Order: sequence, then C-alpha cells, then structure tokens
Amino acid sequence: MKNIVILISGSGSNMAAIVRAAEQEHWATRLNARVAAVLSNRADAKGLLFAQEQGIATGVLDHKAFASRDAFDAAMRQEIDRFSPDLVVLAGFMRILTPGFVAHYAGKLLNIHPSLLPAFPGLHTHQRAIDAGCRFAGATVHQVTAELDHGEILAQAVVPVLPDDTAETLAARVLTQEHLIYPRAVAQWLA
Ligand code: GAR
Repeated sequence: MKNIVILISGSGSNMAAIVRAAEQEHWATRLNARVAAVLSNRADAKGLLFAQEQGIATGVLDHKAFASRDAFDAAMRQEIDRFSPDLVVLAGFMRILTPGFVAHYAGKLLNIHPSLLPAFPGLHTHQRAIDAGCRFAGATVHQVTAELDHGEILAQAVVPVLPDDTAETLAARVLTQEHLIYPRAVAQWLA
C-alpha cells in the first residue's frame, strides 16, 4: 500500500478534498494508496479535526519550538518518515522548506500554490493578481524543488478575475478549483 502523508497549516480544505476523493474513488483498491497521516506545524490547524474524524493519524510539530529551520525540518522529516511515505503532499503548509528536506523527498513531494505559476510565487497571490490587472488567475499543482514555488507543473486551473473582486472573493473562486485539481493530480501521480 502506498502511503500519502499530507502537511497542513490551516483549514486543510485541500487535504479534506484529497481524503474525500480517496474515499469516493476507492484509491485503496484502485490505486493501492491511502492517506496515512496528516501533520501540521500548528496545533490549532482546523484540518486536524477533520482528519481525526476520518480515523487518520495526525501529528503536530510546532515550528516555534525549534531553534532553527534546519532543526524543525529534521524533526518534521522524522515524523513524516514514521509513516513510510511514498508521496508527501503540501496542502496549505505555510513553511519554507530547507534544501535538505526537499532533497530527501525528491520526486515525491507535491505542492499546490494559489496562482498560475510562474506568475506570483510567494505570498498574497490574489491581491497581486488583482493589482497587476490580471484578467485570469488560478492555481498550480507542482513538484517541489529547492526553489520556492518552482518545479515541474502537474496541473493548473484558471478562473476569471471579476471587476469587483477582492483578494477574498478571488481566493474563494480559486480554492473551489484547487479542490478539483489537487485530488486529480495526486491520483495521476499515484497511477
Ligand atoms: C490554499 O489556497 C493553497 O493554495 C494555499 O493556501 C491555501 C490553503 O487552504 N497555499 C499556499 O499559499 C502555499 N504557499 P487549505 O488549508 O484550506 O487547503
């Protein structure tokens, strides 16, 4: 059985979409894969409750308890590796990863980013798209490399930017699409 470990920092709606797809699309029998654990760097990440309700193992490692980024990443790596992961999925995991961490999971580390990469890597993507006058925005699923929000693009979804959009309304429109493309991209990767 292939083990998927999902890392979150907040509401975990992308994680929930993947867990639901795994259930509804019978990934266990069709793809020989399961979500083995959901881990967070924040104890108050709402998504942890959803994962627990689904009977999925959860864990929290508070990055503030570690003296350095390297120390946190090393501990997170140890925690992830307890579940013998075949695939590590970043789903709103708001931490910059060290090159050592990324190298350890080379080829089996995916992320979703709320912009049409290579446009707008980093933070505040929706406001930046609005400020730039973009007519379209979207989200990208990509392989993770040491460079932030780079790496081979596996899937994208496009939404219009509407005249009255705020960062919040645009984010909500993009997020709806994220919930479609991320489970699909993960299933394709597994297949
Ligand atoms: C999503 O929009 C995701 O694309 C974004 O955070 C949100 C998490 O929502 N990720 C990043 O900005 C990564 N740099 P979720 O916790 O409900 O899945």
